[in-house]
Amino acid sequence: TTGKVDFVHRLAVPPLAESRIDAQGRRVFDLRAQTGGRDLGQGGQTRTWGYNGDYLGPTLRAKRGEKVLVNVVNGLDRPTSVHWHGMHLPAVMDGGPHQMVRPGATWSPHWTVDQPAATLWYHPHPHGETEQHVYRGLAGMFILDDEPSAALALPRRYGVDDIPVIVQDRRFDSDGQFDDGRSLLGGVGILGDTLLVNGTVGPYLDVSTERVRLRLLNGSNARSYDFGFADGRGFALIGTDGGLLASPHQTGRIRLSPGERAEIVVTMRPAERVVLRSYPPNAGVDFFSSRFSGGDDSFDVLELRAAGELAPTPEVPARLVPIDRLDPATAATTRRFQLSDRKINGRAMDPGRIDFAVTRDTTEIWEIAKQDGTPHNLHVHDVQFQVLSVDGREPPPELRGWKDTVLVTANRPIRIIARFADYADPNIPYMFHCHLLYHEDQGMMGQFVVVEPGQ
Ligand code: C2O
Ligand code: CU
Repeated sequence: TTGKVDFVHRLAVPPLAESRIDAQGRRVFDLRAQTGGRDLGQGGQTRTWGYNGDYLGPTLRAKRGEKVLVNVVNGLDRPTSVHWHGMHLPAVMDGGPHQMVRPGATWSPHWTVDQPAATLWYHPHPHGETEQHVYRGLAGMFILDDEPSAALALPRRYGVDDIPVIVQDRRFDSDGQFDDGRSLLGGVGILGDTLLVNGTVGPYLDVSTERVRLRLLNGSNARSYDFGFADGRGFALIGTDGGLLASPHQTGRIRLSPGERAEIVVTMRPAERVVLRSYPPNAGVDFFSSRFSGGDDSFDVLELRAAGELAPTPEVPARLVPIDRLDPATAATTRRFQLSDRKINGRAMDPGRIDFAVTRDTTEIWEIAKQDGTPHNLHVHDVQFQVLSVDGREPPPELRGWKDTVLVTANRPIRIIARFADYADPNIPYMFHCHLLYHEDQGMMGQFVVVEPGQ
């Protein structure tokens, strides 16, 4: 596929979710999962699902240290759940398959935000049905702020120079409805030939400032992207899944597998237009030795249109935030994970089975490997981790920040390290799984609990 598009629709920017402070000082949000319809250029209404609207959901935003509560109402005709992807919070608030919300019911998880500023997201996580729920449109961004990031001279005006960019591929049937037939090729699940960015087909963004920050989220079910600009200009990669990098990385490309995020800052000249593209992720990259989801496809993603005069903005600071490296010598355990044939270590997900227990207040190394010829990544709930090595070598710059999802390639084991600081609960598990949603639904998922020392 080479997706050339006409940029004829102004990029929709998900509204910031309204919130209020309750009697206990908690910031309260309301999310309602519901059905809807949207004109997606198919000559009529495409039936969709969304939160508080017809497709995707509002952007939730909270500061480190704040207590938040979200009232999740299920307005669908079947059970769903809402998982806070990348959020560090108690397992019972996590919104995985053990926190299903019945039709008509309300679920009100609450927690204290205690992690660095980051671009997180939320989406359903029903056992065996995540692929379908996300494909129809249930997902949204969850932006966290903190003082160190607020003190940096970075673009931060939401919808002006700080833009969410949720990239999803979709396919339509002859009636203009989402076609959820799975690609037989490669067994990765649903691959679309049309990109939606924040639910917009053929989007352009009017830029009024010299620099613009894009919060890229690969919200696709199966497809990976290799983002870059059509004229070859570079950009500053400033953040990954779980927060800002220690310093910006100047690059021309950033590859994201499903679920991963990247924050980039691009510099514009007055009156120019430049296209954000996705290049074939497989092309000429030895690091990725295996073919992966949609690896030969390229797409036009978004056109940036600069105004005739651009408001000046400061250069991206040379130092962003300190990142304390977790020390492998302090690790209590090394666990090994083999991803293959839609199983992890030969086992398919069983909601009744806990795969292992992690002791609270310990650090662990996980070594993740892949044997089959199918693309997989690994997402871990509860924690943000650091990548120690890829195939025994130093990780590349884009893997040196906080991560919660990482692409795994054949014969290149990845070692990650994470600290399980708190939130022990022997009864409620956290998930770890492939974030190609078809694989997750097929059982490429496991469960762990965090327990008190001595338990
Ligand atoms: Cu984004 Cu367990 O998922
Ligand atoms: Cu997979």
